Formats: sequence, structure tokens, C-alpha cells
Amino acid sequence: MTRSFDHLTSIRGQVALVTGGTAGIGGACTERFAREGAVAIAIGRDPAKGARLVNRLESEGNEAYFYSCDCTQEKQVLNTSSQILERWGYVDILCNIAGGWIEAPPIEEVTTDALRHSFDWNVTSKFLITKVFISSMKARGYGRIVNMSSTTGRRGRVDAALQYSTMEAGVLGFTRALALQLAPHGITVNAIAPGTTRTPRAERHSEERLASTARSIPVQRLATVEEQAHAIWYLCTPGASYTTGAILDVNGGSWTG
Ligand SMILES: NC(=O)c1ccc[n+]([C@@H]2O[C@H](COP(=O)([O-])OP(=O)(O)OC[C@H]3O[C@@H](n4cnc5c(N)ncnc54)[C@H](OP(=O)(O)O)[C@@H]3O)[C@@H](O)[C@H]2O)c1
Repeated sequence: MTRSFDHLTSIRGQVALVTGGTAGIGGACTERFAREGAVAIAIGRDPAKGARLVNRLESEGNEAYFYSCDCTQEKQVLNTSSQILERWGYVDILCNIAGGWIEAPPIEEVTTDALRHSFDWNVTSKFLITKVFISSMKARGYGRIVNMSSTTGRRGRVDAALQYSTMEAGVLGFTRALALQLAPHGITVNAIAPGTTRTPRAERHSEERLASTARSIPVQRLATVEEQAHAIWYLCTPGASYTTGAILDVNGGSWTG
């Protein structure tokens, strides 16, 4: 008998939603899902960025959609998610990528507002959007959720904002707690912890700083967005059904034990 593995890897026809899906790591995820034959839906704040990505993917024969929404704003999330649910009824895949990194003042200079902003950007955004799609996943007994964290959330980092490290560690707690809640429902919840990856945001740093970061990484280079999207894609495949509550380090060997 020839064993087939196709049913473990195919996401063709699945509905895949990516927050922060118009640029950087999230943009590469939208692109990967679309090229795998999924209905790829990207969320971002800037409609121009969304339109550019969708037009490019559509012109290559893929199915892609864009919704403008700030994932930190509950009303916008409710409005956008109800449009998505009205159109497709559910999502199979939810990648919570929207969030971001802030430069690092010492604790004496971190304001409560800055802490709350980072919480909203990196944690509340994931909570709000996940909450609205859970019941449709439960009803179908299937779902794949991937939350964006960071190596910084695993181990802290001297040049990374205190509030960013704190919130990215919070994402790991959110991921594990949700994985336990949803495990009996056929829904997996995992996190990805990338090291520094060449994205529009990372490229705002000087080449000198990026080169110095690269030298500190065992593989001696920064990650590509395609490498991150590939790891996320794996966690979103049907065959990743026994992987839940995991944190996938994609950091070129800068692992944390
Ligand atoms: N790059 C790295 O080295 C690295 C490493 C570890 C973890 N990460 C994490 O990975 C995620 C993506 O990083 P990146 O470097 O790819 O960022 P990026 O290049 O700045 O792209 C961010 C994407 O998220 C969208 N976005 C940002 N805030 C949003 C919000 N509130 N609501 C909806 N969409 C939002 C952006 O579009 P709009 O601006 O139009 O909204 C864009 O599509 C972040 O959470 C970051 O912390 C990145």
C-alpha cells in the first residue's frame, strides 16, 4: 500500500484570516495561504497596502481579500468580523500577526500609557479577534490558530522595549491557556517566536545594527519572511492536529531552552 500524506498538508479551499496580513511576516502568510489555494483574507489598517497585495495576488490567479481594521479597536473588530462571518460563515485558519515592537527606554522612563499601548497592540488585538471566531470553529469542530510572539517574549532582550518583552510573554500565556480550553474541540492554538526578520519594520534600523544582530545569531543572518510564513503554514495544516500549546522558535538557533 502506498501511503499518502496530501490530506495532512493541503489547505486548498480553506478560509484563512491573517491580521497584520498586508506587510512583513503577515503579508508573507497571506501570500503563502493564497498560493496554497486557500481563500486568503488579510486585515490591516492601511487600505492602500491591502489593495496592493490583493491586486497582485488576484492578478496571479489567487483568491485574496482585504479588510481595513485596527485590531486594537473592539468596534472595528466586531464590524469587520461580522462582514467576514456573513460572507464565509467561518474561518478555518486564524493567524494573529498584528502587533509591534517599540524602542527601549529604561523602566524609569516607561509610562503607564506606553505599557497599555503595547498591551493593546500585542495582546488585546489577539484576544478581540480570536473571541469572535471561536464559536464558528467550535461549531465545525475544526480550527487552527497561530499567535505571533517573539524570541524577545521568551528571554527578554537588552535593546528591546520592556513593555514589548512583557506583552510577547503574555501572548505565550494566552496561547497555552486557549490551547487547553479548545483542545477538545479540534482547534489547535500555537505561537511562533521569531528572531529578527527582514520586514519593513525591521528595515527601519540601520544596516549596521542589522548586521550586528545577524552576527549574534548562530546561523549568522536574519530570517526571511518566507521562512517565518513557512513555519506558520505548518502549524495551520490539517496534519498539525497533535501540536497545540506549542511555541515554535524560528530564530536561527538563538533558542532559549
Ligand atoms: N520583524 C521581526 O524581526 C519580528 C520578530 C519577532 C516578532 N515580530 C512580530 O511579528 C509581527 C509582524 O512584524 P513585522 O516586522 O512583519 O511588522 P510590519 O512589517 O510592521 O508589518 C505589520 C503588519 O501588521 C499590520 N498592523 C500593525 N498594527 C495593526 C493593527 N493594530 N491592526 C491591524 N493591522 C495592523 C500592518 O499594516 P498597517 O500598518 O496598514 O496596519 C502590517 O500589515 C509583530 O507582531 C512583531 O512584533 C517581528
